[in-house]
Amino acid sequence: MHSYDVIETFRNFYRDRGHRPVPDGTLLRPPGDPVLFTTSGMHPLTPYLEGRRHPLGRRLVNVQRCLRTTDLDEVGDPWHLTVFQMLGSWSLGDYDGSQSLRWGYQLLRDEFGVDVSRLHVTVFGGDDQVGPDRESWQTWTELGLPVEPTPEDNWWSNGPTGPCGPDSELFYWTGDGPPTGTPSTDSRWVEIWNHVMMRYRRLDDGSLMPLSSPSVDTGMGLERLLTVLQQTGSVFDCDVFDGWVEEVDRLWRLSDRDRRVVIDHLRSCVVVLGDGVRPSSSRQGYVLRRLVRRVLTTLWRDDRSRRLGDLPPDPVEETSRRFGQPDEPQRLLSLLDEEERRFRGVLDRGQVLLSRRGSGPVVEGEYRYWHETHGLPRELVDLVLGERLGGSQVQQGPQVSGSR
Ligand code: ALA
Repeated sequence: MHSYDVIETFRNFYRDRGHRPVPDGTLLRPPGDPVLFTTSGMHPLTPYLEGRRHPLGRRLVNVQRCLRTTDLDEVGDPWHLTVFQMLGSWSLGDYDGSQSLRWGYQLLRDEFGVDVSRLHVTVFGGDDQVGPDRESWQTWTELGLPVEPTPEDNWWSNGPTGPCGPDSELFYWTGDGPPTGTPSTDSRWVEIWNHVMMRYRRLDDGSLMPLSSPSVDTGMGLERLLTVLQQTGSVFDCDVFDGWVEEVDRLWRLSDRDRRVVIDHLRSCVVVLGDGVRPSSSRQGYVLRRLVRRVLTTLWRDDRSRRLGDLPPDPVEETSRRFGQPDEPQRLLSLLDEEERRFRGVLDRGQVLLSRRGSGPVVEGEYRYWHETHGLPRELVDLVLGERLGGSQVQQGPQVSGSR
C-alpha cells in the first residue's frame, strides 16, 4: 500500500464513522504557546479537548505534520524521525475510549491487513493519583491482544499543565520469528499507535481536575505504520523517503546511521523552511539552524568538499508537495546553501582558534567556553579537533549545542 493510499484509507475509515476532516496545519505554534513546534495531532486541538466546542463537531480526523526534537539523539536508528506525519482521530466528549480501541483494532486488521498476532498493547497500570485503566485492559482482553500494564509509560500530556490522561499504546513485533517478551522488555516491539483517554486537566499546582466531558485523542505515525505495511524494517525504506534515499546515496557514501541522520534532517529542514522559518540564533530559527549544521558536520566528518548545493530539486519538490507547501524547490535549496556558507565561515574561524589549543581530551566546561566566548558550537569543536586528534580525544556525542 502506497503512503497516499494509507492516508486515504485512514481518513475514509473515520469519515465513514462520522468524523470530519481537519486540515493539516503549520508546524508553527501561535504566539503565547510555550512550545515552538506542533508536536502531535492534538496540539492544535488543545482548547477543544478542554471543553470548547469545535466548529466541525465532536468527531474529527486529520493528518498533521509534527516536529519532535526530544527524540533528536535517537535519530539515526531505524525508527526515529524529527518531522513526521501523524494520523489522528478524536472524540471530543463523544464516544468513549473502548470504542476508539475497537475501531483502531478493526482498521489495522481489516483495512490495513495487519497480522494481529504480532500486536501487543500496554495500558496504564495506576499510580498514587489515578487507578489502573481497567476499561482499556478489558477491551483489549476481549479483542484477544496481550496486555502489559505500566505505571509510568502510559500517561500522556502535552506539557506540564493542560489536558492529560491514561493512554494505551499498540506495539508491533518487528523481530524475526515469533514474538517474545513484552514492549517494556524487548525493543523489537515498536510503538505504532497511541490512544489517549483525556480524562483530566493538570493544574499549575500539579493536581488533576477531572474533565466534565472526557475525550479521546489518538495518534499514529504514518512512517512507522508504513514500515509495518510495506515490511521494510526501517522508516527510511518506506516510500515517503524514496527520493531522498536515491539522491543521498548517489551523492555521498555514509554509514547507516549518518545516512539516516542526513536524510531525516534534510527532509525536516525542507518542511520547516516551507512553513516560513529561516535559520537564526533563537527560537524556531535556531532549531532549523541546528538541523542544517548537524547535517553538515555529519557530511564533513569524512569530506569537507560535500555541499548541499549538489542536491537536485526532486526530493525537495516531492516533500513540499507531500506537506502541501507551495515553495519553489530552488528557493529552499538556495536558503540551505546560504546557511551552509555561513557555517563554513564559522568553521574557518574555529579552525584558527582551535589550532592554538593543546592536545588532550575535551571536557564539558571547555565546550561551554568555546561556545560562550567564541561562538563555536559543540559539533564544530568535535569536527575540528576530531580531525586533528584522529577522533580519539573528543566525545563524539550526538548532542548539538548553540551557535551564533
Ligand atoms: N497525542 C498522542 C500522542 O501524540 C496521541 O502520542
